[in-house]
Amino acid sequence: MVNVPENIMEAFTSQQVIPMATVNSDGVPNVIYVGMWWWENPETLCVINNYLNKTLTNINHNGWVSFVCYGKNGSYQLKCKAEDVTEGPIYMKGHKIATDRDKPYLGRSVITCKVTEIYQGSGGKGAGDKLA
Ligand SMILES: Cc1cc2nc3c(=O)[nH]c(=O)nc-3n(C[C@H](O)[C@H](O)[C@H](O)COP(=O)(O)O)c2cc1C
Repeated sequence: MVNVPENIMEAFTSQQVIPMATVNSDGVPNVIYVGMWWWENPETLCVINNYLNKTLTNINHNGWVSFVCYGKNGSYQLKCKAEDVTEGPIYMKGHKIATDRDKPYLGRSVITCKVTEIYQGSGGKGAGDKLA
């Protein structure tokens, strides 16, 4: 796992809705948008599962997740290993965020995404380079 630097965490946080990509057991990619997520710590991005369908199936098969942002500090790609968390403090935190609001969501589980690699997402010099 890698610790995501503050400026890269901010680049993601400055974009409320981010793409979340997974892959199935045949190698078929799947990308969705997620808006309910937070940084639990510098190596863990948590996504609230309200509607995840193919995404959840893919995570349960192989755990690979990728994110990209184009935020105030630039563009970055993350590759992560993810787990579906259905109980305990992280689940309770996500469930509360999802349900304790005017328009409640289901908050069925929380996907904990541990960052394994970071790449530069911007074009130009260093495009696609591995940063960590
Ligand atoms: C702007 C936006 C934000 C979304 N945020 C979430 C989210 O935080 N959690 C979630 O479970 N689904 C969210 N969805 C729904 C998913 O993008 C997607 O429709 C769902 O995971 C089913 O697709 P799948 O079968 O590829 O998993 C969001 C959709 C949009 C358009």
